[in-house]
Amino acid sequence: MIKIFTMKRPILFFLTLSFSNVILFAQNKIFLYPEKAKDIINKNIYGHFAEHLGHCIYGGFYVGEGNNKIPNKDGIRLDVIEALKKLKVPVLRWPGGCFADTYHWKDGVGPKADRPSMLNVWWGNVKEDNSFGTNEFLNMCEMLGAEPYLSGNVGSGTPQELADWVKYTTHPNGSSPMTDLREKNGRTDPWHVKYWGLGNEAWGCGGNMKVEYYANVYRQYATFMTNWNNSDKLYRIASGASDDDYHWTEVLMKELPQNMFDALGLHHYSVINWGKKGSSTDFSEEEYFTTMQRALFMEELVSKHSAIMDKYDPQKRKALAVDEWGGWYDVVQGTNGAFLFQQNTMRDAMIAGCTLNIFNNHCDRVKMANLAQIINVLQAVILTKEEKMLVTPTYHVMEMYNVHQDALMLPLMVSGNDYTFEGKKLEAISASASKDKNGVVHISLVNIDAHNDQSITIDLGDINAKSVTGRILHSDRLQDHNTFENAEKIRPASFNGAGLKNNTLSVKLPPFSVVVLELK
Ligand code: AHR
Repeated sequence: MIKIFTMKRPILFFLTLSFSNVILFAQNKIFLYPEKAKDIINKNIYGHFAEHLGHCIYGGFYVGEGNNKIPNKDGIRLDVIEALKKLKVPVLRWPGGCFADTYHWKDGVGPKADRPSMLNVWWGNVKEDNSFGTNEFLNMCEMLGAEPYLSGNVGSGTPQELADWVKYTTHPNGSSPMTDLREKNGRTDPWHVKYWGLGNEAWGCGGNMKVEYYANVYRQYATFMTNWNNSDKLYRIASGASDDDYHWTEVLMKELPQNMFDALGLHHYSVINWGKKGSSTDFSEEEYFTTMQRALFMEELVSKHSAIMDKYDPQKRKALAVDEWGGWYDVVQGTNGAFLFQQNTMRDAMIAGCTLNIFNNHCDRVKMANLAQIINVLQAVILTKEEKMLVTPTYHVMEMYNVHQDALMLPLMVSGNDYTFEGKKLEAISASASKDKNGVVHISLVNIDAHNDQSITIDLGDINAKSVTGRILHSDRLQDHNTFENAEKIRPASFNGAGLKNNTLSVKLPPFSVVVLELK
């Protein structure tokens, strides 16, 4: 059906509704609806994920206490902590991933010399000496100012083991075997550990379970997770669906008692083809286009999983936690195939910008997301090579977008051009907006078009802004990336392509660029 809007501002039907094929006369218009704003963008949407995989932990975060080549505190790299503090990492998921369902936390506490070693069977059968365990992770989260999200072992653990972990980390002081053990290991007070995952990918590496079976197992494990500190209630996250497995979400919503869970997970990776993922740096436009198709599919996934949740939870008390997302390519040549080490280009900046806009716009249901993974693995924000460290284009997008954390989401509607490639189309513009506690409005914009500038008119509604400033992430080639030799090639610059007149902004975005505007 063709609809032509004759009124000045189209009525908002959906949060982000693109009708590029519908409105014939309007191109690249964004309408903001501040009067309809009601939802806060949970800062945890800007969360991260760290697994015992490749060099995420060892060599990434942790270089060992005795290391006098790389500045560290208790073995934790100080350069990494400093860079991550600028991101304002709100929450960090650990220790997996697939690794989590093989991990027995008691192997990773106590004197390091006494900790047993194991083989990391999911990620290259390398030796895991357990020198980085619960105390190291939770202390590191305190250094970072991030909330920990512990992923419990449901696949090969026991309810007792998980209940003990809850007690070891959160039970207030007082005599009990787990608090005594904590004290013996040098920590008297409990840590603040609110977020708990009950298994990871229970449909796959977490036990190959059917959802009906997992729902029962979940109920059993959840029963023994006690809130030791009632003012600091545990937040329990069920292992969620893979991509478009809507049946998984439906069954969990039906079978899990309301008082036993707070969120369902969802995992989605932007992969061209699992059999032929392609190079992270040497890719064609066709590969770029397909990657963006996969990334933008997140909009449909979040909408459809949310719609199922709405049937059982119309008041949206339960959240969707997209606890793994990001681009996934072939490993960099010459590196261990099981370590998932890839470079990070402007293509990844596009994935990050669009995906975070989708999460912002769905913040009524999406309350947490965890980019996979934080250092040296998949779509990392940091890469390290011995004492060298660099931040990636994805890092810069996460840093530019952190202004949205805990801000009031401003609904918007995009009516824009398409980015076309060999007859296939994608919406060229992705956007989201918010107003922070000081009344400052931020609008984040992505032009995914590989070739064309996009001019956009933004109708601000009743926002009376007096000035606009901005920052842009852009480079000459989509394949551009930071290297250890040229670590500053891609970094944000100030943006002067926006003009403000009355309540209308005019913006010109270069091809494959990310811009965040600030209106005061
Ligand atoms: O992030 C890498 C792996 O991808 C995780 O361990 C697993 O949960 C997912 O399949």
